[in-house]
Amino acid sequence: MDTVRRIEWVLAEALSELDDPTAPRSLAAALKHAVFPGGARIRPRLCLAVAMACGDDCAPLSNASAAAIELMHCASLVHDDLPCFDNADTRRGQPSVHKAFGERLAVLAGDALIVLAYQTLSAEIHHRPERAKVLLRGLSKAVGMPGGIVAGQAWESESVVDLRQYQRAKTGALFAAATSLGAASAGEAPAAWEALGNWLGEAYQVADDIRDVAADAAELGKPVGQDLCHGRPSAVSTLGLSGALERFNHLMGEALASIPACRGEKALRALLRAESQRLIPSHMLGKPQGGKQVNPRREALPSSI
Ligand code: IPE
Ligand code: IPE
Ligand code: MG
Ligand code: MG
Repeated sequence: MDTVRRIEWVLAEALSELDDPTAPRSLAAALKHAVFPGGARIRPRLCLAVAMACGDDCAPLSNASAAAIELMHCASLVHDDLPCFDNADTRRGQPSVHKAFGERLAVLAGDALIVLAYQTLSAEIHHRPERAKVLLRGLSKAVGMPGGIVAGQAWESESVVDLRQYQRAKTGALFAAATSLGAASAGEAPAAWEALGNWLGEAYQVADDIRDVAADAAELGKPVGQDLCHGRPSAVSTLGLSGALERFNHLMGEALASIPACRGEKALRALLRAESQRLIPSHMLGKPQGGKQVNPRREALPSSI
């Protein structure tokens, strides 16, 4: 089974309990709406790519890790779109969960997805109980305080915000969990893999900030211009458009350099290269923004990207 099908299958399995006739139907439908259809599924793909680079000796556990990470991500999107956060009407090309099901069910759907992530991972822990502690710790670190997603979102309520700290928490931490849990689910020590996730996650958020001003809503399947509209700290507002692009290239270079020597190194490099092109495609580089041309500095990327 290829990785994309593997991820969709494991997510469908994770949500299969929602078909229980005793479950409230609207909340079950809201959960499915939050998970399917998916977006890029980059976090579970990264998790499985690292697991495979480390030998992937327990597929049920790496599958569960990948699914848990994507479920946490979906929960964060549902909550992030709520009127009290970014007030976004669309997500992944369809109405956001609160638009389709109302705010009360969206709050509950996000909560239920967080719990489902732990349920999904813990259901497979019996295969390698000695790996439980590191996996559960890694997942919790990515979403909780002091440096996970909730901390990242909470920085938006502070008067002084460090951009890197904000971005590393709201986005980088879950990427670090993707690489760490990929390694840990295959029995490898996660420490050597954390840096790759951190660099890539930070690059990903910088790219998201660039796309917020340089792409259009139809292309992204979500609203654009949000960072300016909500006064969010962003790489573009801090560094300017070409500065943000340079930062993205630098971070992708660091991510590439941090891949530990392993037999899956080539596949990981290919994944990073493809992501770099997908996130900031050439047509976006050349798009005029308010009379200003985005600086096409793709050549600044290390030649191996
Ligand atoms: C969106 O993440 C939120 C950010 C952290 C930038 P993605 O761009 O990975 O969203 P999907 O999963 O592809 O929809
Ligand atoms: C997303 O940040 C971070 C999350 C924890 C969901 P953004 O607010 O910039 O992401 P989008 O643009 O809504 O996907
Ligand atoms: Mg937000
Ligand atoms: Mg948002």
